[in-house]
Amino acid sequence: SFVNGNEIFNAARKGHYAVGAFNTNNMEWTRAILKGAQEKNTPVLIQVSMGAAKYMGDYRVVKTLVEEEMHAMNITVPVILHLDHGNFEAAKECIEVGFSSVMFDGSDLPFEENLAKTKEIVELAHAKGVSVEAEVGSIGGEEDGIIGAGELADVEEAKAIAATGVDYLACGIGNIHGPYPDNWKGLSFDRLEELANAIAVPLVLHGGSGIPQDQIEKAIKMGVSKVNINTECQIAFAEATREYIEAGKDREGKGYDPRKLLAPGTQAITDTVTSMIDWLGTPAVK
Ligand code: G3H
Ligand code: ZN
Repeated sequence: SFVNGNEIFNAARKGHYAVGAFNTNNMEWTRAILKGAQEKNTPVLIQVSMGAAKYMGDYRVVKTLVEEEMHAMNITVPVILHLDHGNFEAAKECIEVGFSSVMFDGSDLPFEENLAKTKEIVELAHAKGVSVEAEVGSIGGEEDGIIGAGELADVEEAKAIAATGVDYLACGIGNIHGPYPDNWKGLSFDRLEELANAIAVPLVLHGGSGIPQDQIEKAIKMGVSKVNINTECQIAFAEATREYIEAGKDREGKGYDPRKLLAPGTQAITDTVTSMIDWLGTPAVK
């Protein structure tokens, strides 16, 4: 069964390390992430976007798949099952269905509405032992149809959202979903410092793919405890799959067994997960 994120991420904030949050899309992705975390013997957060859940069927399918794969694979590390960038309805549904954590992303709403709805989700979620992530400011770029302007999080707004009792908080600090453009100015450490000084809840860094390692490490030292990684796994999967097929490695380029065709890409996801866990400094469970 799943654990919620409260204790794990609070321990991470206090210990100045982070725990990886990896997006799943299907069975291969789910297995690859679980395998990577089990190899490193670290806690892991598996998250699903609204779009990916729709692709897989519905939230119940996601929950059942992750749960049953954990069982079949003899997974012993703590696993958090989380909704990524959910709207109000999706967050409510995931709380009902048995996710152990949800993100309510009200960053596109007027602030007062974001605040009120975050509060409502926190009440519903905490009544069931489910942890909650909210968002202040916004993440630039696009992920699965969620488009953000990329404004830096306002410190007063972040304080108000933190006071609702959220378990972790995503803040815009110059981070962007998807690959970073060549002219990217880097993370805003000034704003991150102000936010980290103002609020005690673990901070979440979205857009974790493509940030230079030294910036990720600095952000973690300052209070980032959850790092979201999606694009990095997608690129690794796509490159390994393309390479395997284009090099004609499967039966001289005539292979058709899906289990063979998907294997190199799946392994590439596991390799990405284990190397990200090393970057984040997630300690092994005892
Ligand atoms: O919510 C998911 C993450 O913020 C992923 O961002 O695709 O840039 O790694 P990324
Ligand atoms: Zn995100």
